[in-house]
Amino acid sequence: MCGIIAITRNPEAAYEQPLAGILIDCLERLEYRGYDSAGIALLVGGMENDGADDAAIWRIRAAVSKQSLKELRKHAPSAPGPPRSDSAGIGHTRWATHGRPSEQNAHPHLDCTGNIAVVHNGIVENWRELAEELSRSGHELASETDSELIAHLIEDELRMDTSTQLHGIEATRRALQRITGSFAIAVLDTRLDGGLVVARRLSPLVVGMGGGMCMAASDLPALLGLSGNYYVLEDGEIAELTPESITAQDLDGHARTLHPIHVSWDIEAAQKSGYDDFMGKELHEQPAAVMDTLLGRFVSDGKLALDETRITDDELREVDKVFIVGCGSSFHSGLVVKHALEHWTRIPTEIDISSEFRYRDPILSSSSLVIGVSQSGETMDTLQAIHLARQLNAKVLAVSNVVDSSITRQSDGVLYTRAGPEIGVAATKTFSTQIVALQMLALYIAQLRGILYNDETSLIMDQLRDLPRLMRHALDRDEAVKSVAEDIAGQRDLFYIGRNTGYPVALEGALKMKEIAYLRAEAYPAGELKHGPIALIEPGTVVLAIATKGRLQKKMHANISEVKSRGAKVIAVANDGDTSTAALADHVLYVPETVSLLAPVVDVIPLQLLAYHVARFRGCDVDRPRNLAKTVTVE
Ligand code: AGP
Repeated sequence: MCGIIAITRNPEAAYEQPLAGILIDCLERLEYRGYDSAGIALLVGGMENDGADDAAIWRIRAAVSKQSLKELRKHAPSAPGPPRSDSAGIGHTRWATHGRPSEQNAHPHLDCTGNIAVVHNGIVENWRELAEELSRSGHELASETDSELIAHLIEDELRMDTSTQLHGIEATRRALQRITGSFAIAVLDTRLDGGLVVARRLSPLVVGMGGGMCMAASDLPALLGLSGNYYVLEDGEIAELTPESITAQDLDGHARTLHPIHVSWDIEAAQKSGYDDFMGKELHEQPAAVMDTLLGRFVSDGKLALDETRITDDELREVDKVFIVGCGSSFHSGLVVKHALEHWTRIPTEIDISSEFRYRDPILSSSSLVIGVSQSGETMDTLQAIHLARQLNAKVLAVSNVVDSSITRQSDGVLYTRAGPEIGVAATKTFSTQIVALQMLALYIAQLRGILYNDETSLIMDQLRDLPRLMRHALDRDEAVKSVAEDIAGQRDLFYIGRNTGYPVALEGALKMKEIAYLRAEAYPAGELKHGPIALIEPGTVVLAIATKGRLQKKMHANISEVKSRGAKVIAVANDGDTSTAALADHVLYVPETVSLLAPVVDVIPLQLLAYHVARFRGCDVDRPRNLAKTVTVE
């Protein structure tokens, strides 16, 4: 998830503010989309009166986490350039997915000639094939990113078409047809005489017009205050922007009409995309985050594309025991995937809270695989756990959301979640993306060991790819969850019960309720209730039961009956149309059905929404809960 901005303005007009300053202001309002590096590119020179065209691209980039925009400001021109110069520019603030955060990997990226600059948000799924193809045809790639390929692809289209002069938008349109994956891009090209090309597929992009300028950005906050008229570029559309006009077409070249959007947000609301808080926004970003995490991971030969790996396939084949370590929600995602790992790979899998693992004298060897799960990649307990694992010669693989974070640098291999920055303290989209990342890893190991055949892996990958759709349906029930939240907001104590993969879902739901709504919420494996905790159930006690379909659903029904007969008020998470669970519960939070091993990312959604709404009914600050920090860098 990155932020992009593109502006073109009248080259004849005299401006008070340099375009560089405006671009950086816009990027500041997009920084919540990523902040590990940033850059801008401007058109300089241009067609002179004598007809000579000396147009060129001036570029500046910086990679100082959270400080890159300050760096850019220090070095950007402080006064407007001469007429014709300073009339078009693009900018980018990055959240690294391909290639570590560095100046070399920061956008904008240039083609070999330096006449085309591109900013990109998204993932080029077929980047390996394209990179090989472009290198073979003589392109020199200067970064480790998938995004840079787009600049070279445009250049390639221009090179291939020597007979006709390709119109500016046409080369980009053809280049984008060669890409699989997602993109929102802006292209600055010296041939466009101050115009810009923008396009999108699956990644968001809005365009605006007004005040002698046309502009595009990955989100509205960047444009607020610059333009009065906004339009959404639809999925699969490309547009050419001049200072006075926006002309759109689809990626097959058919003309399209832009539809205006009405915007009533102020800048602060817009940064949260209209949500009142970041947690609400991030919760709803989960389907997109899961989709991005899945994109392009299983490459054509059936191999899982790990982001960095110093672990060979042979070593993965030899693994005789897996240990997953993490804290809080990251521990819970590991608990979810332990089931799939053991089921698909048949490798015994242990799961530990990082701070316990370290002090329990674990038995590890060179055939152990330790997976450190950490959204931030900086959690001290998890870092210490992986240090120990390395000392004991185990192979260490990190699953993290932050490229080049400490945990990723200290591991043998890395698989990144691509959730984008998570600002709310409560983990939401990083929890669901951790689960799918770990599941892909489990599938890959199972395939390597010959336990699952490629076609079985493909079938499960298809089910994984369907998750974003199901998650969207679960999120659509927000209002129904809110009314249940209102009903229970005055409670003090809550119990969460589940079995199998439903148990970590219960733990995660209870953790959300504790950390943002400050309610005592305890989670138990449902079968364990009768061994003690059931003594706490009394008339009116609220019990959340994860009772979606699966081989243990009947047993969950029995557990629901046990607490009901002691007077509990039961709120069940159940699948659409499940009348047998509805008959037992006081309230049902419905979710779409999927296979049990994958269901947690869908089933957890109503519990996240419930905690969110209860917290708001109770007047709590959901983004900054008391006593908590987003990243815990102390033991
Ligand atoms: C989750 O909502 C919490 N804020 C917390 O438990 C978190 O998951 C934990 O601190 C681990 O953080 P990490 O993933 O960055 O290592």
